Amino acid sequence: MSEQARKTAEALEYLTGFGNEHSSEAVPGALPHGRNSPQRAPLGLYAEQLSGSAFTEPRRHNRRSWLYRIRPSAAHPAFTRAGNGALRTAPFTEAVPDPNRLRWNPLPDPAPGTDFLAGLWTLGGNGDATQRTGMAIHLYAANADMTDRVFSDSDGELLIVPERGGLLLRTELGLLSAGPGEVALIPRGVRFRVELLDGEGGAPARGYVCENYGQPFDLPDLGPIGANGLASARDFRAPVAAYEDVERPTEVVNKFCGNLWTATYDHSPLDVVAWHGTHVPYVYDLRRFNVIGSISHDHPDPSIFTVLTSPSDTPGLAGVDFVVFAPRWLVGEDTFRPPYFHRNVMSEYMGLIEGAYDAKAEGFVPGGGSLHNMMSAHGPDRETFDRASAAELKPQKIDDGLAFMFETRWPITATPQAAGAEHLQRGYDDVWEGLQRHFRA
Ligand SMILES: [Fe+2]
Repeated sequence: MSEQARKTAEALEYLTGFGNEHSSEAVPGALPHGRNSPQRAPLGLYAEQLSGSAFTEPRRHNRRSWLYRIRPSAAHPAFTRAGNGALRTAPFTEAVPDPNRLRWNPLPDPAPGTDFLAGLWTLGGNGDATQRTGMAIHLYAANADMTDRVFSDSDGELLIVPERGGLLLRTELGLLSAGPGEVALIPRGVRFRVELLDGEGGAPARGYVCENYGQPFDLPDLGPIGANGLASARDFRAPVAAYEDVERPTEVVNKFCGNLWTATYDHSPLDVVAWHGTHVPYVYDLRRFNVIGSISHDHPDPSIFTVLTSPSDTPGLAGVDFVVFAPRWLVGEDTFRPPYFHRNVMSEYMGLIEGAYDAKAEGFVPGGGSLHNMMSAHGPDRETFDRASAAELKPQKIDDGLAFMFETRWPITATPQAAGAEHLQRGYDDVWEGLQRHFRA
């Protein structure tokens, strides 16, 4: 399937823009005009609204799409419980929150035949999915396509960050592809399945997922930066309508309040022939991020690298931010240029997509991750501190890595499987060992 999936991915077309009222039809005439729910929808299709926000939320936050499909989603048998595998959901009560700094190596390779859904493994999170607050951090490792089954998450939207191997995402609203250096977002409730773009039998596809239970990710306000900068709305790509007219049993797996439920439809539910709306999946290429930094001294707080933010009820306080550390120039004069030592009321999970990160000389590897919880002290390791304190401050390009952060307002509780994992690094504290005393009164 990989070769076919790759060809499909290379030929994809997209709609551009963030938060647009998009519309698309795979068959001319499938989309009704002038109304959403005509007495008889065109071409014998069923009209169905999918709401991602309450009907009455302000227009800026309102998310909904109208889908015109071969069968209504309602035509299905009862859902029954399925095993949750390595997926866990907030509230995370199986272990106590840990103030220690933690760092992991990549997930071990999965068993043969592991698809994206089966390969999801929860590291931790916060909040409460039933209250639509907080977030979870998952990793995935997969070596098989999802075949005749689709997934939908009622608990939150999924921000997928591939680290190794490209993904073809077949969603109700159409197809997207995302590889390392790109991110894909699947909105709450949208059904999708994942095919792998890189050869079967090769290295498994791997990556990270932020499951955001809270308000949908939005672009951050820019304040004094002005009308341009950071992620540009026009660089976000939504799919065009594409449908499957497949009359064979398809399993629909629904994550609902922390548990997986399954029902077998007698047809593919990816049967949306036309749609319009704002509740749409999208992809974004992180290499298009417009990195803004200091041209005098010091460097801004890392919030300047925010790609997407999930706002809370308190202005400026995010449920979760998605932040990228992309290639950039460092030119600060009389400035310690790597990230400074800090203790932060927000909690930080960092991952690495490729290369190296400028605050950690070693040990932080692609596919791995680190967790610096609320108020835990962290910053450059000893080697980085020594090097950066003595470096000649000529303009320097940081271009050998792509790191990201999920930064959240609440402490992150690691799952027991993460806190006790074989791939948890023992002795992470040692990277700050040997920071010499230099004080002289
Ligand atoms: Fe930090």
